[in-house]
Amino acid sequence: MRTLLVVEASPRGERSMSRGLTERFVAAWRKSHPEGRIVTRDLMKTELVFANLPWLQAYFTPAEHHTPEMKGLLRLSDELVDELLAADDIAIGTPVYNYNVPAVLKAYIDHVVRKGKTLGFAGEGLVHGKKCTLLIASGGVYTEGSPIRDRDIATSYLRLILKVIGIEDVTVVAGGNAKAVDMGELTRAAFVQKFDAEISAAAARGGYPGSTA
Ligand SMILES: Cc1cc2nc3c(=O)[nH]c(=O)nc-3n(C[C@H](O)[C@H](O)[C@H](O)COP(=O)(O)O)c2cc1C
Repeated sequence: MRTLLVVEASPRGERSMSRGLTERFVAAWRKSHPEGRIVTRDLMKTELVFANLPWLQAYFTPAEHHTPEMKGLLRLSDELVDELLAADDIAIGTPVYNYNVPAVLKAYIDHVVRKGKTLGFAGEGLVHGKKCTLLIASGGVYTEGSPIRDRDIATSYLRLILKVIGIEDVTVVAGGNAKAVDMGELTRAAFVQKFDAEISAAAARGGYPGSTA
């Protein structure tokens, strides 16, 4: 059964534009994969710790030497890695904060980039055969032709880290100008609608032949 993992990073709940985009993606994916399984990892409901000393000591200790305490420290990381490895498709919905991903998504990444699990000991990516869609909401616009294109660190960073662990089939839905909604110039529904065709095409990848929604 094909599995979609949805990672959500915005703290804004129903007012979030990235969550609006992922919601649309999930609906389109469901049409293309009626028998599929959807797993949601909401980072706002996940007790992620930043990499601190005890966590790093556990991280760098070979699994066969893990103490019960180290196993406990890595339990969430193990769970997040297993969830990622079990997925065929991955959708990451995220805001842009200060040109990059929010701290909570960076913390998630620190938990899933694991030597011996997602990253080989020679630095090779171990996560293969997955398709990832990035649904990125930003106040500004960073796409081709934008005078601030060079500030699109969030997209470059996500593409890079996914490539490092082996995920190269990445589609980006760049939800720029989300500030129009916050300024009352556009409804959230109209904002999401602008990206409908892109989202449908991304969600249909690997779906039923001929399916477009
Ligand atoms: C702390 C903070 C930093 C932000 N930094 C940027 C930024 O660097 N570039 C940008 O285009 N938008 C920036 N924004 C605007 C958000 O990307 C925008 O509000 C987006 O809709 C947030 O995603 P969400 O609606 O899914 O929460 C920032 C917003 C906040 C709250």
